[in-house]
Amino acid sequence: MINQGFAIRKNVVGMLVVAGWLIGSQSASAQESGKEIFQQRCTACHTIGKGKLVGPDLSGVTSRREESWLQRKIKAPERMIAEKDPITMQLLRESNNVQMAPLGLSDKEVANVIAFFKTIDAKGGAGTAEVGLHPYFLPTLLLSITVLIVLTIIALKAGHKKTTV
Ligand code: HEC
Repeated sequence: MINQGFAIRKNVVGMLVVAGWLIGSQSASAQESGKEIFQQRCTACHTIGKGKLVGPDLSGVTSRREESWLQRKIKAPERMIAEKDPITMQLLRESNNVQMAPLGLSDKEVANVIAFFKTIDAKGGAGTAEVGLHPYFLPTLLLSITVLIVLTIIALKAGHKKTTV
């Protein structure tokens, strides 16, 4: 009887931890894959917050450009040049006519890389060099740990009460 109550509470804790982990890993996955795309396909020419390379520093890019513009730019940069997109014309002047190469990303990959830029810009653009941390995952993890501790304390107290009676 005593152990049963404790066992139920332990199961609840377990379920909460699993739920927290699932939610955390799912919301992190889009920007996680965006991060990989960025590291593999873009870092030859771009940094985020570390200055200009071949292309502009992409720190804050989601606040200085429209999302639809970013989609078109990353998806088909050559078309932006052909269309004489005014922002692209300006960028070309700044990069001494070095053009962004077409990368052949899918719509989903483009969306993921934009999601990655957004999470970084939401953090204020700083600290983007340490791309090792999962910004979405951390709060969920902390919350899960807090819930775990609180429930353990409750469970211990309840269990203790019953044994002393
Ligand atoms: C071969 C070098 C090169 C690679 C690789 C490259 N870019 Fe670029 N990018 C540039 C250059 C040069 C510009 C500026 C000239 C232009 O717009 O064509 C630019 C411009 C941009 C802009 C506009 C920046 C602004 O300030 O508005 C975005 C956004 C961008 N790139 C995203 C990406 C992403 C995302 C990737 C990877 C999937 C990528 N680029 C890969 C060279 C590159």
